[in-house]
Amino acid sequence: MSSFGAVGARLYAWLNRHPETNRTVVDLADPRAGEPVLEVGCGPGVALELAARRAGAEHVAAVDPSETFVAMARKRVPGADVRVAGAEDVPFADGSFAVIYTLASMHHWDDRDAGLATLTAKLAPGGRLLLAERLLDRPGHGITPAQIGDVADRLAAVGQTGVETVERRVGRKTVAVIVSERPLAA
Ligand SMILES: C[S@@+](CC[C@H](N)C(=O)[O-])C[C@H]1O[C@@H](n2cnc3c(N)ncnc32)[C@H](O)[C@@H]1O
Repeated sequence: MSSFGAVGARLYAWLNRHPETNRTVVDLADPRAGEPVLEVGCGPGVALELAARRAGAEHVAAVDPSETFVAMARKRVPGADVRVAGAEDVPFADGSFAVIYTLASMHHWDDRDAGLATLTAKLAPGGRLLLAERLLDRPGHGITPAQIGDVADRLAAVGQTGVETVERRVGRKTVAVIVSERPLAA
């Protein structure tokens, strides 16, 4: 399921040590103290650590299909509930989270629409979903404007409200963050 084996995961963690994009996404997600937070595709846990500083480590959870990344994230954020799973099969109860975010993972999912349906189901009423990817001109390791349109349509189809895309310049790249909310009343 994960395209990252043990060696690939360690290499990724080694090469990605200037995590301004992680900070940008967690700032936008803005988890508050005590809010239950889920990160999807947490990798080595850099953003998870930032989220834990805001919400409290005992309130943050994460999933990643790579056992190596899960081990790294557990070590980085003791107290967080980090599990081996993908976006399509998140092993937490529906309606559990006030904030769910993912960064640079959606383009790896086996089934994007199944992942979107799963994540929106895991949101509590009023919960916020943030889907962050590098903005690209053509399909690749990120997201194009056309793909953003497809994702926005899917989110609307599964009942998300307030769907909008926020762009942030981080160094030489632009990060697109698709933000939406679970309605308060079902
Ligand atoms: C480019 S890394 C990004 C890691 C981290 N979010 C970061 O920004 O440093 C992509 C991540 O997506 C994870 N991934 C792959 N398939 C996935 C899936 N189906 N569901 C959730 N995460 C997945 C990978 O294991 C990896 O941790």
